[in-house]
Amino acid sequence: MAEELIIHERWSREEKYRALLPQMEALTEGETDVTANMANVAAALKQAFGFFWVGFYVVKEGVLTLGPFQGAVACTRIGYGKGVCGTAWKEGRTVIVPDVERFAGHIACSSASRSEIVVPIRDGEGTIVAVLDVDSDSLDDFGAVDALYLEKAGGLLYPGRVCP
Ligand code: SME
Repeated sequence: MAEELIIHERWSREEKYRALLPQMEALTEGETDVTANMANVAAALKQAFGFFWVGFYVVKEGVLTLGPFQGAVACTRIGYGKGVCGTAWKEGRTVIVPDVERFAGHIACSSASRSEIVVPIRDGEGTIVAVLDVDSDSLDDFGAVDALYLEKAGGLLYPGRVCP
């Protein structure tokens, strides 16, 4: 596809996700390099929604390690069960945090981050191999629509994709 996204400002968030998903699919289709796919998906989400931070942490030697992202510099390693990212990994489910100050153990990479969603990403065999972390500078910015589409986006990254 042409490397240009078609997203209109006047669209609702759900309309944007609906338009963005096939475009992310076209960007990642046939590309087997996971880092390249993560880089484009992070850029597409950042560009479409202007979220404060969008990025991936990849499981490496038992630790979540910073991968491709868009936004401010961030912490590089997060342990199993630590922070929102490590919790999503440990519990194997999407975690939505409406107010990061009320999440015990939240890891604050930036004081500007107010709410957060973390989606676990599975490889072709169903093992969690990474998480997608999206941060907002607004309180309570994420809900079921974000979970639904970010989980679908997470299914586009690995060869032998598992699309929820
Ligand atoms: N807040 C995350 C850490 C990563 S940064 O937000 C980019 C957490 O608690 O796991």
